[in-house]
Amino acid sequence: MAPENIIFEQIRSGGCLSYLLGCLDKKKCVVIDPELDKADEYVELAKFFSSELLYAIDTHTHADHNSACKILREKHAIQVIMHRTTDTPYIDIGVEDGELIEFGAQSLKVVYTPGHTQDAMCLLFRDRIFTGDTLLIGGCGRTDLPGGSPELQYDSLRKLRTLGDEIRVYPGHDYREAVSTLGDEKQNNARMLIPNEKEFVHFMTSRKPPLPRKIEGALEWNRTPIQGTQRGMGEGI
Ligand SMILES: [Fe+2]
Repeated sequence: MAPENIIFEQIRSGGCLSYLLGCLDKKKCVVIDPELDKADEYVELAKFFSSELLYAIDTHTHADHNSACKILREKHAIQVIMHRTTDTPYIDIGVEDGELIEFGAQSLKVVYTPGHTQDAMCLLFRDRIFTGDTLLIGGCGRTDLPGGSPELQYDSLRKLRTLGDEIRVYPGHDYREAVSTLGDEKQNNARMLIPNEKEFVHFMTSRKPPLPRKIEGALEWNRTPIQGTQRGMGEGI
């Protein structure tokens, strides 16, 4: 089999997963859902692969941990990408459904999947998909925080159902195993198996999980520009 000519590293930080993905030929890479404590590690990893870190991409506005995006932007001039509906004030590029994020000879395709938050997106890369908190292994992101919508989450999971079974799932958290396939999730994920929107909404709204422990600090950090206190105006989480 021909080598893939890509850089692919899954980086753990507590329960959070981030990913360094790159084009080995052209020596360009991106980081997906970078976590603040690991900011220097992403930069060092890119250097290790002699690769330029072009973009820091958040799949959505995180409510449970601090994103490294604005630090990577401030300290290393790395451009920040999020879905165009985000109210995060420090993004450089807002992308929309179907758009390609190119790095060297490789690209990620944006799959807009609101529901966990209104700015949530998945990123399709060949036979892999980075699902953020839209689809977790054996579960899906909660929809009860501001900006969440169980109805939209239902539609987004249906949208993911239309993609190929062989696609490997790389989520933003590893509450169970750290990788699965869409085929496995379609067959075994209880939330993907709920047959209609009404039942799905009932399931999601009848659960009352505790708030993320760091929600206030995370939202403050993730929704303000580097220097100041300006808050985003929308409802993203
Ligand atoms: Fe999240």
